[in-house]
Amino acid sequence: RTHKITLVPGDGIGPEVSAVMVAAVEAAGKKFGAAFEWHSFEAGADAHAKNGVLIPEELYKSIETNKVAIKGPTATPIGGGFSSINVAMRKKFDLYANVRPVKSLPGLETKYPGIDLVIFRENTEDLYAGLEVMVNPDIAQSLKIITRKGSTRIAEAAFEYAKNNGRKKVHSIHKANIMKMSDGLFIKCTKEVAEKNTEIAYFEHIVDNACMQLVMNPYQYDVILTENLYGDILSDLCSGLIGGLGLVPGANIGKDCAIFEAVHGSAPDIAGQDKANPTALLQSAVMMLHYLGENEAGTALQSAIEKVYAEGKTLTGDVGGNAGTKAFGEAVLAAL
Ligand code: NAI
Ligand code: MG
Repeated sequence: RTHKITLVPGDGIGPEVSAVMVAAVEAAGKKFGAAFEWHSFEAGADAHAKNGVLIPEELYKSIETNKVAIKGPTATPIGGGFSSINVAMRKKFDLYANVRPVKSLPGLETKYPGIDLVIFRENTEDLYAGLEVMVNPDIAQSLKIITRKGSTRIAEAAFEYAKNNGRKKVHSIHKANIMKMSDGLFIKCTKEVAEKNTEIAYFEHIVDNACMQLVMNPYQYDVILTENLYGDILSDLCSGLIGGLGLVPGANIGKDCAIFEAVHGSAPDIAGQDKANPTALLQSAVMMLHYLGENEAGTALQSAIEKVYAEGKTLTGDVGGNAGTKAFGEAVLAAL
């Protein structure tokens, strides 16, 4: 079997971590009789600077055909400039569930050992949609739209996942005390879904309190269900619990299409220096392998990553080691 996969290496550290990921997926697949055809596209800030095109039309077509893509981070300018290609692609393919498992790796010493939670972030609406206007040079306006459809389907995805993966609790995270209508609708919908899934315990936490709770006692959380912007922020917070952004993978999932990508960005401070940790993208690839039904390859790749961490000899600088991106990739291949 050959899987056709759309690949966006991306900006900054993207090409470095993507190279490691492709080699590892190839090796894991080979062990179990799966092959991969990579359809690679330049998109993002570097592509924009080079060709004046942010997202080539062929990239859209490729994802439409292949239905599965994996991407490195793409940089988005702060303030002005072009809008995020991530937001554009999530909207274009209606990838409404952003799923981010936050799980401690064996052997890594962190403040919180044994973390195991999953974030379900609504991925198409909220302030993150970037519906903004300058009313006049001194007044800016951002539109926050929350819908019953968007809130209900992310809640259903979270509860479905909880039931199928032995999870016990879902926390709906919101700020409905202040945004009574928008966040109010969100928790109304998540509560309705909870009432249809009473085997899973349901809680609601206000987002500022949730930040404190996550730092004081993260173990109380199992599945975190939340809106787009809170999910973005809480994801980075949660990555800090287990050792940083170099580790946490993600999947943008729609009805019949998925784009896998790490939580982290293009890390311009370490780009091109063989310093980036490819673990987050590797674990995103593990999620992709399972999505493709290549469960053996996915499990083998995950075990190989964990073996390298358990041994602790070939780790990147962000998690206290002194190996480079490439050396870490080689260690994963050796473990495979
Ligand atoms: P960032 O996630 O790129 O970096 C934050 C910090 O984490 C930096 O110190 C960086 O060196 C470190 N870091 C991130 N990934 C790492 C890895 N794999 N290994 C080791 N260290 C790692 O966030 P920042 O600097 O706020 O954003 C940079 C650019 O990335 C911006 O243009 C932003 O728009 C973009 N971005 C893109 C995302 C995507 O394409 N999915 C997601 C988040 C940000
Ligand atoms: Mg983010």
